[in-house]
Amino acid sequence: MKLNKYRVQTDEEKIKIGKNLEEDIGFELLKRAIKESTGFNCEQYKEAHFRRRVNVRVRATSSENYGEYLRLLKKDSEEYEYLIKALTINVSEFFRNPETFEVIEKEVIPFLIKSRSDSLIKSIRIWSAGCATGEEAYSLAILLHKVLNRDYNKYRISIIGTDIDTLSLEKAQKGVYLENVLKNVDASTKENYFVKLNETYQVSDQLKSMIRFKRQDMISESCTGRFDLIICRNVMIYFKKEVQEQLQLNFHKALNRGGFLVIGKAETLLGAASNHFKTYNSRERLYIKETKDI
Ligand SMILES: C[S@@+](CC[C@H](N)C(=O)[O-])C[C@H]1O[C@@H](n2cnc3c(N)ncnc32)[C@H](O)[C@@H]1O
Repeated sequence: MKLNKYRVQTDEEKIKIGKNLEEDIGFELLKRAIKESTGFNCEQYKEAHFRRRVNVRVRATSSENYGEYLRLLKKDSEEYEYLIKALTINVSEFFRNPETFEVIEKEVIPFLIKSRSDSLIKSIRIWSAGCATGEEAYSLAILLHKVLNRDYNKYRISIIGTDIDTLSLEKAQKGVYLENVLKNVDASTKENYFVKLNETYQVSDQLKSMIRFKRQDMISESCTGRFDLIICRNVMIYFKKEVQEQLQLNFHKALNRGGFLVIGKAETLLGAASNHFKTYNSRERLYIKETKDI
């Protein structure tokens, strides 16, 4: 997929289109059409964010207004892919916010390992929700593999990475990355867990075997099974407050008692959800499921 299929406008064109869009009543119709054609839950995203992202495509296609853009969408199915790409922001990197991963490596993973030490089946289940191109899920796989070390084979590790964007998931599945997303990866980790191919780094088969990537819309689909750690960062921030709260309650339900939830640094627990988690590390946005199922 090319980055931008259409041309870039002059400043005058941008101002004209911007003014048209502000006054355009076709937005609701366009939203409905997007929902019907793609299943994308437009209503659940923050209105201003959603409109800004749609406008990116309206401008890029030189459409004069939402109606014209809708006609184009109906003619050109590829444009839907570009639109979904614009609506979902997929930026990620390995060990994004390294201090958070430090707490996961030094405290959370050892705690989970210790709490399984007496169990016959020592399983640890992790969910990276909104995993984009996979860096977050692979970072967790690296830490688990490192910390477990020789005991790795005694444990049943399962990491699931989910996202709404299939193109991102394909990239996650391939596991081939450019150096810029590995800036927080030290040399020995690169050597142990990646294979360098020209300008790219391919994740090792070991890491791949630990993760299953799957398409899932976290707003309308739930994840089956219980987890010991759920990490959902820099996703909920785009959703309306009531949707964020409901999702946090869903995560509570999906966690084992004593399980951990990690959210983004710019995100907070909301409403009823904040009563059912105990703060473990407020700076790094780490919480523990303290209460029983709600
Ligand atoms: C900025 S990325 C976050 C990646 C990673 N968690 C991180 O912090 O580096 C946000 C991701 O959320 C995904 N997303 C947005 N809406 C979603 C939804 N309803 N269900 C699942 N994923 C969604 C986007 O496709 C995108 O890949």
